[in-house]
Amino acid sequence: MQIKGHAAVVTGGASGLGQATARALAEAGARVTVLDLNEDGARATASDIDGLGLACDVTSAESVGDALRRATEAHGPARMCVNCAGIVAGGRVVGKDGTPHDLDVFSRVITINLIGTFNVMSQAAAAMVGLPNLDPDEPERGVIINTASIAATEGQVGQVAYAASKGGVAALTLPAARDLARSGVRVACIAPGLFLTPMMEGLSQDIYDNLIQKTLHPHRMGRPEEFGRMVRALIENPMMNGSVTRLDGALRLEPR
Ligand SMILES: NC(=O)c1ccc[n+]([C@@H]2O[C@H](COP(=O)([O-])OP(=O)(O)OC[C@H]3O[C@@H](n4cnc5c(N)ncnc54)[C@H](O)[C@@H]3O)[C@@H](O)[C@H]2O)c1
Repeated sequence: MQIKGHAAVVTGGASGLGQATARALAEAGARVTVLDLNEDGARATASDIDGLGLACDVTSAESVGDALRRATEAHGPARMCVNCAGIVAGGRVVGKDGTPHDLDVFSRVITINLIGTFNVMSQAAAAMVGLPNLDPDEPERGVIINTASIAATEGQVGQVAYAASKGGVAALTLPAARDLARSGVRVACIAPGLFLTPMMEGLSQDIYDNLIQKTLHPHRMGRPEEFGRMVRALIENPMMNGSVTRLDGALRLEPR
């Protein structure tokens, strides 16, 4: 799908991969609405790209509905929806002190990363399926891109909640693409390895060095703009549908 001239919404756009995606889509000529729990951050990203920044909690149906309504009023209906909002939280099934994983923490990670992604994608898709078709030769109404992680398949010690949430995001890619195929809406998913964003800045030097050592080539963390370029490529290529694409410099996570 052509990016230029169409509207996009990006969740988690106040920071990191979402911010880079908002910039990449704006550079390609999209009208971008940045959604984030962090309203000031959303506005700051938006002000750099002549976009709209709105407060939005991806876990709330009302908050997402309201934000998408306001985005549509400002920019017209979104043809592109990129879900980057997410959190990371560590914890083992049974902690070193013998207590089970905190159920509230597990639940929160699933609620934001998995249910939040589904909430935004389903509401955005409901609007897309009613839009005029863009291509005279085949259905083309919009593209949804979700963000999983390589932890979806290689979760490390202490990542049980995060890996479960990202496994869910990866797993829904194909059935969602199948559900929306007849409407001409594609669904793709990116599973990043390690990218230098505020989410990763809290890593200890040991963990950082260990992970960099295993990122074979390029031998460094990914740059958020490289994620934004992948988003653009997935949107622009009509055959990209129903798959999870790793973006990881050949990193394979080990148990720890
Ligand atoms: N950075 C990496 O190396 C990496 C690797 C794999 C996957 N990911 C995934 O990529 C996505 C973006 O990560 P990032 O590194 O840019 O993180 P980040 O912390 O820099 O940005 C995440 C953004 O999500 C927002 N957010 C959190 N909860 C929200 C909610 N309930 N509603 C709306 N917004 C909310 C935050 O305010 C923040 O701006 C996440 O889903 C993350 O799990 C990141």
